[in-house]
Amino acid sequence: MLNIRYEKTTNPKPLPEKDNPLKFGTIFTDHMFAMNYEEGKGWFDPRVVPYQKISLEPSAMVFHYGQEMFEGLKAYKTDDGRTLLFRPNKNIERANRTNRRICIPEIDEEDFLQAIKAVVKMDEAWIPTKPGTSLYIRPFIIATDEFLGVRPSSTYLFMIILSPVGAYYPEGLNPVKIWIEDEYVRAVRGGIGEAKTGGNYVASLAAQMKAHEEGYSQVLWLDGVERKYIEEVGAMNIFFKINGTVVTPKLNGSILPGVTRDSVINLCKHWGLSVEERRISVDELLEAAKDGSLEEVWGTGTAAVISPVGHLRFEDTVLQIKDGGIGEISQKLYDTVTGIQLGRIEDPFGWTVEV
Ligand code: COI
Repeated sequence: MLNIRYEKTTNPKPLPEKDNPLKFGTIFTDHMFAMNYEEGKGWFDPRVVPYQKISLEPSAMVFHYGQEMFEGLKAYKTDDGRTLLFRPNKNIERANRTNRRICIPEIDEEDFLQAIKAVVKMDEAWIPTKPGTSLYIRPFIIATDEFLGVRPSSTYLFMIILSPVGAYYPEGLNPVKIWIEDEYVRAVRGGIGEAKTGGNYVASLAAQMKAHEEGYSQVLWLDGVERKYIEEVGAMNIFFKINGTVVTPKLNGSILPGVTRDSVINLCKHWGLSVEERRISVDELLEAAKDGSLEEVWGTGTAAVISPVGHLRFEDTVLQIKDGGIGEISQKLYDTVTGIQLGRIEDPFGWTVEV
């Protein structure tokens, strides 16, 4: 158990106005959690302190070789005033898997949860309550050794910052347009694709810019070896309903194991739908679109929640799904996932954790 030190801000910021659209990732609360690590000493000095700038030497290793990890989860305010986290333990387990992959020391799971709860409790008043909003929680760890050689750092800084957010995509629950990328790749098996680390996101930027220029919001990645099989969207995992069956790419070492992905698989199975986690080639997808068996497409992610996909483009082929509108399962999943997160409907899986 952490012995957390608290320092409250003496200069609180005004809470966002009720009509603020809470553009994703632009507003930060009054406090943050921080804790340091030194080899031989372990994690130490856990603290909830005013949100502030941090000072690092230009030689800090994180700036040079990208040894950093992050997570993303959300807190919600229920109608009766409770604060709920959605499956925080899944994020914490994944954080330690990322840590192992990129040689960052693990954090005790209970300590991690205690840290999240401590800072969320402190800034509970910042949890927005308008439909489609929540408090996004961003834990991250950076390597802080002042050194230019390539090796794991021996010192780290772990922080948690909080941001009241609306929808991740400006489209909200309206279907997004997705570009299937045929030039760049995001990750390969054995690499870091299944870890939540910045390198995967910087690898996606050039293709994302290209897609934006063509009027598409996100990039759907193909596997890095054969460039044939669907992987993920980068900010979300992807699902298809083909001939009544829910299909999603099987985790293969280069796909991020999303918490919302896992929740959607569980919910669909709970509803008696047939769910397949398997390889899906882009050819199969094009064929299914052509013969009318591709019924729905949606993405899942903490930030994106459930995001219907209305258009897919691969090379010169443009597929319009569901006449560009939201599908039945996507809508039901959105209503159910957000209903559970907000404590409005029964949580048959025990997914929510009270702060
Ligand atoms: C999340 O969904 O929490 C993510 O980390 C995706 C991020 C690119 C916003």
